[in-house]
Amino acid sequence: MATAGESDRTASAGAARRYRRDPLGFVEWAAREHGPVFRLPDDGSLCVADPVEALRVLHNEEGHYDEVSDFFHVRGGRLGSRETQVAIGRAARATVRAHLAAHRERLPAVVAGLGEVSEWPSAGRTAAHRFLAEALLRPDSPPALRELMTRVVERDVLIRPGGRLARVARAALWARVVRAVAGEVRARRAGVTGPAGQGPGRPGDLLDAVLGSTPPDTPAAQVAQVYLLLFRTSVAPVGHVVGWALLAAAAHGVDLADVPAESAVRESLRLWPVAWLLGRPVHRAHRIGGVRLEPGESVSVCVYLLHRDERYWSQAARFRPGRWDDGPGPRGAYLPFGGGPFTCAGAAVAQTLATGLLAAVSDGARLEVRGGHGRPHVAGIITPPSFQLRRTPIRP
Ligand code: HEM
Repeated sequence: MATAGESDRTASAGAARRYRRDPLGFVEWAAREHGPVFRLPDDGSLCVADPVEALRVLHNEEGHYDEVSDFFHVRGGRLGSRETQVAIGRAARATVRAHLAAHRERLPAVVAGLGEVSEWPSAGRTAAHRFLAEALLRPDSPPALRELMTRVVERDVLIRPGGRLARVARAALWARVVRAVAGEVRARRAGVTGPAGQGPGRPGDLLDAVLGSTPPDTPAAQVAQVYLLLFRTSVAPVGHVVGWALLAAAAHGVDLADVPAESAVRESLRLWPVAWLLGRPVHRAHRIGGVRLEPGESVSVCVYLLHRDERYWSQAARFRPGRWDDGPGPRGAYLPFGGGPFTCAGAAVAQTLATGLLAAVSDGARLEVRGGHGRPHVAGIITPPSFQLRRTPIRP
């Protein structure tokens, strides 16, 4: 007969398996069973899905959590001081914002370039990349590097892949890209590629933004990794938000032509917050919802559950862009870009870009979605299941 300890271990191994198989389904079940505060079965982190506690965690006014941002995690630790991290975030945002302001009118052509029939979510990433390409890597960068970055987007190296072989192949490509970008960092530092921002045709790119915000002795490989994180963040989540909006609108019978694209993007980020779990390492012992936490443990704010809580959102599981006509959602119950000192540096610009892309897809065209019935892919960020979009332009 199994002892109590053995059956506890078997139960927690089973829960960990269920969580790995379907993290979103698992947290929904756990919140129904245990309420808004419970342990996650993989790393024991305390999952928090209560708006007041979530804001307390993210704002960290009581100093319960380490003052670090997971975003800047690179091989060998975290990059730079907090000051450097903030400077990088601001410079990246300024680069993307300037490009968006200067070239917004190109969005319809970028979307038209996807063709009448496109495969999503990769089409969303491709569109975001094609639009931002010159801001991410300026045109006078080595052609081989520009091609490599396009391959990174096409081969889905941006999201953590499933399957061992795919994982190994993509990890190898990723390592190659880090080496190639580090080479470009050295070349720019040595003045080989030439200074950016001289003359109207030579605005700086995202790599210049990172280089200009990091101390000059930062190892080239670390600069490259942070650049790639920002590259990935500028392309994948934006493309996925647009993909989720298309899929959810089709599934819930919403005609995107009747809805402001901005509301559709907000609602897409509510139902499918691409950054669905925000982790914080515990620095000082304290309690959340009656659970005692010790230094070394971690807390995970579950944005996905907050956004689907029926106490704050009527018909929470429905895609209803019209709910945004009444103003912002309840405080603490809508956190697609996080909150507190580590709030997304690119929130406004990401929202504007996703809105522009979605409007370019839905304006002047009839949309038909096929497929998309699979489960979302959850690995760090939530990726929509594959679907096909047929976009038939409506001739005036
Ligand atoms: C729809 C697109 C995006 C979503 C949903 C998103 C979401 C987020 C979230 C939730 C965080 C906070 C993570 C945490 O609290 O642990 C974050 C951090 C960050 N994001 Fe975004 N992001 C998006 C696009 C962008 C873009 C386009 C940029 C750059 C131009 C960007 C730059 C950053 C930076 C630098 C941080 C770290 C902030 C810090 O620690 O100081 N993000 N993002």
